[in-house]
Amino acid sequence: MNAFGRRIRGGEPAIPAAIPGAGAVMPFNESTAKQCLEANGQEHVLRFWDVLAQSQRAALLAQIEGIDFPLMNRLIDEWVRNKPPPETFEKIEPVPLIPVADIARQDAKAAFDAGEEALRAGRVGLFLVAGGQGTRLGFSGPKGAYPIGPVSRKSLFEFHAEKIHNLQKRYECALPWYIMVSEANDAATRAFFQEHEFFGLAEQNVRFLQQRMVPCVDEQGRFILESPGKLAMNPNGHGGCIPAIIENDVNTDARGRGVDMLSYFQVDNWAAKVADPFFIGYHVLRNAEMSSKNHRKNHPREAVGVHCICDGEYRVIEYTALDIYPQLLETDEDGKVVYDAGNPAIHILAVGFVERVYANYDKFPWWRAHKKIPYVDDAGDLIEPDSANGYKFETFVFDALRFINHEPVALAIERAGEYTPIKRFDGDNSVVGAWKSMNQYWAGWLEAAGCPVPRDGEGEVPVNIEISPQFALTQDEFIEKAKDLEWPDVGNIALAADGAFIGQSG
Ligand code: UTP
Repeated sequence: MNAFGRRIRGGEPAIPAAIPGAGAVMPFNESTAKQCLEANGQEHVLRFWDVLAQSQRAALLAQIEGIDFPLMNRLIDEWVRNKPPPETFEKIEPVPLIPVADIARQDAKAAFDAGEEALRAGRVGLFLVAGGQGTRLGFSGPKGAYPIGPVSRKSLFEFHAEKIHNLQKRYECALPWYIMVSEANDAATRAFFQEHEFFGLAEQNVRFLQQRMVPCVDEQGRFILESPGKLAMNPNGHGGCIPAIIENDVNTDARGRGVDMLSYFQVDNWAAKVADPFFIGYHVLRNAEMSSKNHRKNHPREAVGVHCICDGEYRVIEYTALDIYPQLLETDEDGKVVYDAGNPAIHILAVGFVERVYANYDKFPWWRAHKKIPYVDDAGDLIEPDSANGYKFETFVFDALRFINHEPVALAIERAGEYTPIKRFDGDNSVVGAWKSMNQYWAGWLEAAGCPVPRDGEGEVPVNIEISPQFALTQDEFIEKAKDLEWPDVGNIALAADGAFIGQSG
């Protein structure tokens, strides 16, 4: 059970639950499940029914009852039976970016002040999406439990919690933290928070909510059994936060606390600046519904979605579509990427906007991914396919941008210190890449504060550095607080929340 007492709209089975005239509610049992599956061409789902234990039957019935059959039929029809041609646009323009954050500039100062005021007034909540499957990282627990601190081994969740401590102290406010999980990692995530005593945050300000799951389908549009009594399902993508917010009454909870905007971030972005006052300020001053941060693309084929205006509508085009829209590969005479607004998935969402998008959620786009999906054969044996054999359907939060009723609010950010996504251990967007990036970033702070940091011939930092975001969130704050520190001998450096050095070695 989640903390909110979940209610679902639009997840009705195709068979009415009430018996007309009887005033009674028909229980969802084997017979109704059978009828429902037959009516939707999915009767094979019960083919192992006779050999299932009672508990497996109950679990399978619960899965079937939760399926939104009208939605699934639409997705199978649109994406499996008919392969839709890519959308075409007359005109694709780069989204105009607001360069951040030169505090000397008048509008940046005004934005910063407005953001601070909103934080002090308690208008901001934090929304973390942590319901993904984390397949590429291959870590056994929830991704947020990954021990990212190279010296301290602190988890991603703990680093995010320390940022919240810092902001709450600075702005004398309570920042409610809403954490979206999925069926697969809900229990483990809650247990991790319990075990770590909510990282010192007030428990009533940390709320978990579950996103919905959708069945995976094979190349004929048939649901897949991953074991004789279990459907293969996947969470409905980070865009699932829109229904999850409403169906779990997060909007009501937020409004009750005086919160009217949510700072959205992803669990695997270690460096994410949560509730960044600049960003909040631009959002507030422009009276925006949904705002975004953007990092400039390094090269035209970089594997990142791009913020664009397509025939007047705000879109993010996935990198997998670069060859469909070749203008996105254009560079200017200096070799700079023209469509340069890369998507780091950092947003502010107005609570009222989420409610409006939900009211129009039938128009929210779905996407399919062709994947290897393990399945059971007719003998009930598990088969691990060698190549993609089915589809997962999901929604993306950036598609909410096409619902905004105003000019884009798109801030250009530097990646260092803001964006270190962790998708795998090594290579692009990895743990190792994030360590390297943060070592460089924090080395800059240390040097600015007078602490010598070793560098090799290429200027790389050969030691691990880690600074608790509770101790300092910005370089200025670090320099101010670091005045009283006595620097250790050069080696790995980890600075705890209270400014103590931990785990250093020469
Ligand atoms: P990714 O799309 O990178 O997925 O999610 P992932 O689950 O972390 O990793 P892979 O693709 O399986 O390797 C980006 C962010 O969106 C969240 C993730 O938890 C991560 O913070 N997310 C993704 C959800 O909350 N729900 C989803 O259904 C999908």
